[in-house]
Amino acid sequence: MENKLVVNGLKFVPYLKEDEIMKQVRRVASELRRDLEGKQPLFLCVLNGAFIFAADLFREIGINDAQIAFVRYASYEGTSSTGKVRQMMGLPENIEGRDIVIIEDIVDTGLTADRMIADLKAKNPASVRFATLLHKPASTKTGFVPDYVAFSIPPKFIIGYGLDLDGKVRNLRDIYVNSED
Ligand code: IMP
Repeated sequence: MENKLVVNGLKFVPYLKEDEIMKQVRRVASELRRDLEGKQPLFLCVLNGAFIFAADLFREIGINDAQIAFVRYASYEGTSSTGKVRQMMGLPENIEGRDIVIIEDIVDTGLTADRMIADLKAKNPASVRFATLLHKPASTKTGFVPDYVAFSIPPKFIIGYGLDLDGKVRNLRDIYVNSED
């Protein structure tokens, strides 16, 4: 595992190793495979942070008829939520009657999740499920609870495996936590 890191003057220490992450990705994939049996789901990867988790999860689920599309929302600046969620890249037009699975990197306040689900439900899908790599239940502002969670964590700032600090360090294979939080 890589050692301590300093990013934008903030210190980070190792938190979740690549093999632990992959073990939980496989567990979430098997739960989704069970729940989606016989369906042709449409996965929606929330850019940018979820792209690595989505790639691993989508391949682990192994449903050949499944499709994937990409949406983009933004609410964070630096290490904290602005409280305002902006849709940056639209939802696919025709999702009526589809079984949707949102793939998110992290649920913090829950504002992005609530906004996305409301936007989706307005388009009459058959079902909407929500899978996240990380969940910070203590940070919730909306009471939103994801359907599938790889790791439930305390309200600390996390980087690596797709998650960034000001666009940096998404490449790291392990997950790190801000040691000053
Ligand atoms: P929410 O709308 O407050 O739930 O925030 C969701 C978004 O905030 C995530 O998709 C991330 O982009 C970002 N975010 C929240 N917590 C962290 C973190 O610890 N590290 C990196 N990004 C985070």
